[in-house]
Amino acid sequence: MPIIDVEGLTYIYAKGTPYARKALNQVSLSIDQGEFIGVVGANGSGKSTLVQHFNGLLQPTKGRVTVCGRDTSSKEYRNSLWRKVGMVFQFPEQQLFAETVAQDVAYGLKNLGLSQDEINRRVPFALEQVGLDPTEVADLSPLVLSGGMRRRVALATVLAMQPEILVLDEPTAGLDAVGREVILQIIKDLQQERNTTVIMVSHSLRELIPLVDRLVVLNRGKVAACGTPGEVLGCNPLQNLKGIGLPDYLRLICELKERGVQFENPVTTFQDAEQALEKLIKESVR
Ligand SMILES: Nc1ncnc2c1ncn2[C@@H]1O[C@H](COP(=O)(O)OP(=O)(O)OP(=O)(O)O)[C@@H](O)[C@H]1O
Ligand SMILES: [Mg+2]
Repeated sequence: MPIIDVEGLTYIYAKGTPYARKALNQVSLSIDQGEFIGVVGANGSGKSTLVQHFNGLLQPTKGRVTVCGRDTSSKEYRNSLWRKVGMVFQFPEQQLFAETVAQDVAYGLKNLGLSQDEINRRVPFALEQVGLDPTEVADLSPLVLSGGMRRRVALATVLAMQPEILVLDEPTAGLDAVGREVILQIIKDLQQERNTTVIMVSHSLRELIPLVDRLVVLNRGKVAACGTPGEVLGCNPLQNLKGIGLPDYLRLICELKERGVQFENPVTTFQDAEQALEKLIKESVR
């Protein structure tokens, strides 16, 4: 049984008003326990709208979303979904509000009704998970930390709740290259060590390709492609992938394909591209 199942999901903002806007149109997909799914697409393609259905924040205008086998349109279930599905919104550090880092991380745990002992155990553990030293940062105000560290604290507030499913909406937006790498590695480790199901939204195929099991490409509210990075990149002409951060090496490969060059093996990683180009050059000098 898939952990998340989306069937014919259509979502219309401001339905019935002159401002009605169809953000998702007949989206179907299923996600298995422990999978790492990348959701990619241009601005306004419906990425945030889709993932906000996974924690019950939005309910389908049409169609059905089930999480762990239960329909999210049940109000009673929806009210408990936040325990299962951890949601890291874009720029989550803006939601830090407590006086200290430790209080921020503890906040959600209090709402879970955990004992003080359990909270005292989980707070430093979550900070360590995101690569912060609890003895150094726990008593600091989040305001004195760098942007990258605040983002990590925000991630810790969600990880501390030990969600079965982790949804991240553009978790690296606005960070520098080092900050991005740190966050991506934390997320990957979490999925591999705890078998957490991870759904990560990004503008950039570049950062998703090395991480994910499968990609979902959205285009104007529809699924334009879905599959392993190899499948998605192998079957799609460049135009479907424009505007979604195609890495330079793939842009080169796609342009060569458009000019009629054929590649025997699928090209997904940088190494694949290197090998394919080396072969091409050798053949052309023969
Ligand atoms: N609250 C809202 N009210 C009305 N329309 C909305 C609302 N939120 C999003 N939309 C519209 O729905 C469509 C999908 O938006 P969504 O935010 O899901 O896209 P996205 O892929 O996450 O974009 P981005 O990359 O900019 O974050 C867009 O056309 C957007 O303008
Ligand atoms: Mg968005």
